[in-house]
Amino acid sequence: MQTFDAIEKRHSTREYKNKAVPKEMLEALVDAGRRAPSARAVEPWEFIVVTERKTLDALAVFINTGAFLAQAPACIVVVCEDVKYYLEDGSAATENILLAATDLGLATCWIAGDKKDYAPDVLRLLDIPTGYKLVSLVAVGWAGKRGHQHKKRALKEVLHWNRFVKRSIIKDPRITRILEKDDRNPPTVA
Ligand SMILES: Cc1cc2nc3c(=O)[nH]c(=O)nc-3n(C[C@H](O)[C@H](O)[C@H](O)COP(=O)(O)O)c2cc1C
Repeated sequence: MQTFDAIEKRHSTREYKNKAVPKEMLEALVDAGRRAPSARAVEPWEFIVVTERKTLDALAVFINTGAFLAQAPACIVVVCEDVKYYLEDGSAATENILLAATDLGLATCWIAGDKKDYAPDVLRLLDIPTGYKLVSLVAVGWAGKRGHQHKKRALKEVLHWNRFVKRSIIKDPRITRILEKDDRNPPTVA
């Protein structure tokens, strides 16, 4: 699969088949995670791959927005040492995991970790040493039903050339004409 295909196909899945994910696939996902960019090349991440049914069930109890972990065959928990860019680094690693899983035909869902009330419980349950932050949990499995990516805002709406312009609040037709012309002729990058 090409990278752009994986980006388009990736979507959050919350229903999984009762079917294990091969160990080699889970290892490949962590391998993709550890290849993410990292500020100052610190690589503060650690990945805990949870496949034990009882631990997945316990996570599902703690995490109200991740109750579907009780059906998922695996979960990759991303934790980072509490360094300056832990959240950016851990999030980059998480996205790598999601895209790599899509490439392998696996279904995933990013479950929030950072800033959540249940983070201390999750860290304790998994014996994570002090000094680590819970960034995310990625449910991994085989899709229980066909799904699709949540509808995204249009490219035209989110892409701004040279300055941020909320088109709806600019009423002057002379200005909107100029800005629209800008859109049709994006600058070439030297
Ligand atoms: C930081 C972050 C936290 C998220 N936390 C949860 C969560 O706790 N439970 C959940 O079901 N989905 C969670 N999601 C998934 C989003 O709900 C999902 O990405 C969004 O609805 C868009 O759908 P899509 O992933 O299919 O494009 C989270 C996504 C991100 C990026």
